[in-house]
Order: sequence, then structure tokens, then C-alpha cells
Amino acid sequence: MIAIFDFGSQYTRLIARRVREARVYSEIVPNTTTLEDLRARGCQGVILSGGPNSVYDAGAPQCDAAIFTSNLPVLGICYGMQVMAQALGGKVQLATGRREYGPATITLTDEHPAPQDAIFAGLDASTSLHVWMSHGDSVTELPEGFTLLATSDSNPVAAMGHARGLVGLQFHPEVAHTPQGAQVLENFLFGICGCAPEWTTENVIEATVARIKAQVGDRRVICGLSGGVDSAVAALLIHRAVGDQLTCVFVDTGLLRQGEGEQVAATFRDHMHIPLIVADARARFLERLAGVEDPEEKRKRIGAEFIRVFEGEAAKLGDVPFLAQGTLYPDVIESTSHDTAAAQTIKTHHNVGGLPSDLKFQLVEPLRYLFKDEVRAVGAELGLPEDWVWRHPFPGPGLAIRVIGAVTEERLATLRAADAIFIEELRAADLYRPTGQAFAVLTPVRSVGVMGDYRTYANVVALRAVTTGDFMTADWARLPYDLLARVANRIVNEVPAVNRVVFDITSKPPATIEWE
Ligand code: XMP
Repeated sequence: MIAIFDFGSQYTRLIARRVREARVYSEIVPNTTTLEDLRARGCQGVILSGGPNSVYDAGAPQCDAAIFTSNLPVLGICYGMQVMAQALGGKVQLATGRREYGPATITLTDEHPAPQDAIFAGLDASTSLHVWMSHGDSVTELPEGFTLLATSDSNPVAAMGHARGLVGLQFHPEVAHTPQGAQVLENFLFGICGCAPEWTTENVIEATVARIKAQVGDRRVICGLSGGVDSAVAALLIHRAVGDQLTCVFVDTGLLRQGEGEQVAATFRDHMHIPLIVADARARFLERLAGVEDPEEKRKRIGAEFIRVFEGEAAKLGDVPFLAQGTLYPDVIESTSHDTAAAQTIKTHHNVGGLPSDLKFQLVEPLRYLFKDEVRAVGAELGLPEDWVWRHPFPGPGLAIRVIGAVTEERLATLRAADAIFIEELRAADLYRPTGQAFAVLTPVRSVGVMGDYRTYANVVALRAVTTGDFMTADWARLPYDLLARVANRIVNEVPAVNRVVFDITSKPPATIEWE
């Protein structure tokens, strides 16, 4: 396990990802974590992230200095290197005239003694390296016992190392703009920490199943299936751990896409042989949404109703102490970062309604330490059908936030039909997977058209398609014109209440992916 100390860098999560990509388990920990905590967790090395502060600011985040003398390998990146330098008696200064933002070239020194040279081993550059810098402060004096490993034009210390396995890098090896950054990180993990690339899908499954078994014992668990990949993989892992002590509940809210309810039931009950209850709550949801136009009010009512239905179903099952959730590691990082003084990123979560404070269940969260791509790999390994593994995300409030304005059964049916055509054509063009998310929106606008010799006055459907890695930022997908033409043509011909189709060409930000 590699511990990543979070000093509030926008790249902290990226460091955790890069380490996992090298097949080493990583976890982001608060910068207050002590050496003792690390030892207790079997930590093999520490990475100190960058951060927005200056080390000499009052209250600037630090870390347990005992770590630096413990023989535990430490890689300090940017601010992380400055923290290490300061703690060990080096000097850090505001580098007037030496600020560096963006691409830079560093020159490796030729005094590379072993083992400090390990960090740059095997790189395709005997003396210079292209890197990405983003800093105002610099280390101007090395702490005792450190060797200067690299310099840059405006930076006396671009990299430094100590025989105890301490390495400081002023540049960011985790970003894609440092072309050989992955190799530098691997050098730290394998060459300096002595990690083995063992974080494979099979190991993930084995470790998670063991954790679930230990938590749940012989008691019962319920798991709400949403139709998305996360809850499905959570259910598969729990089923592998405790078999039919698991019951899945799928709430048919009436806000699902075409054929979705049947597909979930068929896959889980018939294909995976996992006990499944389908709760038909369509009428209840429509009733709660009647006449509601405000997006936030829709979300709130759906969230509350969802939990009510869910608890009702759970109560019928008898004594079920555990509720499973498909919480992912990025959600955990984002919600805990509220508590760490150093972190600055805050994202609003969209989980349906949240959980009531008097929740009677204990939570089981099998995906708590996994990233989305790891979840997909686990799903594929556990036999989840491929088209489910790669399904686009679907919001908890469902089609209710894609029918803009008041939600009625009729408007839901119109949207469902238009959406199904869009997705069918996207798949036929082999563009479903490369697109991060795609769907239709039923706008509240009506427009005039002409069909045959008749004037029409009907609904406008908007198509939304985005490319994105993390869904926090997104660009509109440049779908081919002929595909868009085919989709528009089919929608106006096949969906009676629609006479016009438009394509949303806004990025996020400033728009969001969903319209409500
Ligand atoms: P936005 O619209 O904020 O959405 O750009 C980002 C991603 O989150 C999904 N989303 C939701 N997911 N419950 C969910 O489970 C919600 O209330 C919700 N709202 C948005 C959205 O589909 C996109 O993938």
C-alpha cells in the first residue's frame, strides 16, 4: 500500500490513479496521518502531494516529521518536496523571477550516486527531461545528506534525493504533460519502495470479498439496483461473498428508459441467479411529481419517495441489518476532502436524496476503494454482460430531470421513444462506447412544423452527447452529421408528438451534462 498525503493539490486524485495504473494499491490519506498509522497499515511508501500553500505560511499543512527519518521511502512532489526540504533543514523561498508554470526542461546532474539514481532509471533521456511545472516557491538550499539530482533554467533544485529513499521532485510526474512521468512514478514504486505490481482485478475481487465476509458474517444484506454499473458490481461482489444472504431490490420508478426494468430483472434473476425483488412504484412516483416543475423540488421528492419504497421492501424481508451501496472511491475522496483543511475542491453530490440521518441499516460499500475503470474490470470478470459494463451513467432521478417542466406519463413516453432511437443509432454507428454519455431531453418548447400538407405545433427534443473522463468537465461530442440527420429524421417520423430536434453544443462548464 502506498499512502498519498493530501496537501490540497488539484492533482492528488490523479496521483492515486497513476499508482493504481502501475498496479499498486494506493490510498489518499489526510496530511495528519502519523508514522505509527502508516506502519499499522503496512504502508510501503509515501507520496506527498502538491498544494496551494507556501511552506512558510502560518498554518501551512505539514506532516509527521518522524516519517522522514523512519527509512520509509517518501516521494515529495512540488509542495510535498518543499515540506520535506523544510522539515529536514533545507531552505524554501518564494522564487521571485523563478516561478514556473507549464512545460519545462530539467537537466539531470551527473553526480547521480546509487540508490538516488533509481528515480530516473531507464528514462529516454540521458541528461534532460521534459516535464510540467506549476510552482511559485523553490527549494534553494538542499537539506543535509541530499544530492542534487536535476536542475532547470529557473530552478536550482528540480529534483533531489537521499540514500534513505527520500526523493523530491519540483515537477509533476503524475500529469500527462510530463511524458515520462509514469516511468518516474514506477521507478519510485518498484525501484525504491520495492512494491510488486500485484493490484490486479483478481486480487481486488479476492480482497473485497474477504472484507465483505468479515463485515457481514451470516446476516442478511439488501442492495438497491439502479440499472447502472456500480450497484450491479456491488451486488455481484456481495453475492460472491455471502451468496443468497443478499437480496437485490429494484425500484421501478416509472422514470426508467425503454426496456430497462425488464433488462435488470432478466439479468439478475435469470442470468446471475441473484434473488431480486422488483417493486412497482410507478404510480406513486408520478403522483408525487404531479405538477412539479422546479428541478430541485423534483429531485427532493424523488429521493424521499425512493427511500420510502426501499425501506418498505426491506421491512417485508424481516431482519436485514445491512444495506449495500455502490459508493466509489472518488465519492469518498470528494466527501472526505470537506474535512481536510488542505483540500480545496468541493463537488456537490447527486446521490438520490441522500440517506436519512436515522437510517437503521449498517452500510456495506464494496466499491469504496475503487475507481470507475476498476469497477468495470471487476464487473466484466464477474460475468456482468459487456453492454452493462459499458453502460452510460444514468441519473438517480431518471427521466424526470430530462422531461423539462412538469412530468406526465405521456411526456415520459415521448422522451423514452426519442431516447431509444438516439441510443440505437449511436450503437449502430459504433459510437456508443467512445461517447461518455448520450441521451435525449424533452424540452418544454413547442414549435411550428409542416408534415404532409398539415401545420403541426409539437414538441422539441434536444439531443445531448458528451465526451468526458470524469463527468466533472465535459465537451460536446462531435457526432457525425449524417448520424445526427438520421436520428432527427427517425424521431420526427416515429415519435408522433415531436416535430423538431436540436443538438446541444455546450461544454461543461458552463453548462452541466443534464439539463436539470
Ligand atoms: P451534471 O448534470 O451535474 O452531471 O453535469 C454529472 C453526471 O452526474 C449524473 N447525475 C446524477 N447522477 N443522481 C445521480 O445518480 C443525480 O441526481 C444526478 N444528476 C446528474 C449525470 O447524468 C452525469 O453523468
